[in-house]
Amino acid sequence: MESLTPLIDKDQVAAKVQELAARITHDYEGQELLVVGVLKGSFLFLADLVKLLSPKVIVDFVQVSSYGNRSISSGNVQIRKDLDINIEDKNVLIVEDIVDTGLTLRHLRDLFETRRPRSLKVVSLLCKPEVLAPGTQIEYVGFEIPNKFVVGYGLDYAERYRNLPYIAILNDPD
Ligand code: IMP
Ligand code: MG
Repeated sequence: MESLTPLIDKDQVAAKVQELAARITHDYEGQELLVVGVLKGSFLFLADLVKLLSPKVIVDFVQVSSYGNRSISSGNVQIRKDLDINIEDKNVLIVEDIVDTGLTLRHLRDLFETRRPRSLKVVSLLCKPEVLAPGTQIEYVGFEIPNKFVVGYGLDYAERYRNLPYIAILNDPD
């Protein structure tokens, strides 16, 4: 039977988002920042984060999908919705809910680099160090978690659980 084991409660999430926002605000002081959310998983994290940032912020979104067997993540990433904004000469911050193998992120970074941003960094609320491809660059990481499937605070299983206000391990998915 499908069940949830709480992993990170909503106060811990809120405290971490504040901490990340403070670091980002400090690092981009006096500069404009283009915050790029990776749909759909990042929507709650991005919403909470941008409210706490004090540089001048603009927001855009991309949506990607990885095809093939996820357990042997091919890195075959397709852009389903590209950016609206031209990122040339902009400070770009990619916002991810979770970085698992890091292949999605690597693809996005390589693509965005070809568009010559002024700077390009990544913030991810969660990261699974056990499976992360070596050399994956993530400038701001919220929580390092074990290699378990998690849901909530934007993260889904078959489109469900995104609205949970906390993060939980999903046991025995149906
Ligand atoms: P990666 O390319 O292996 O890093 O996969 C990243 C994407 O897989 C994330 O952006 C999520 O959409 C999805 N994903 C990876 N792990 C989880 C999880 O534990 N729960 C929900 N989605 C996940
Ligand atoms: Mg995602």
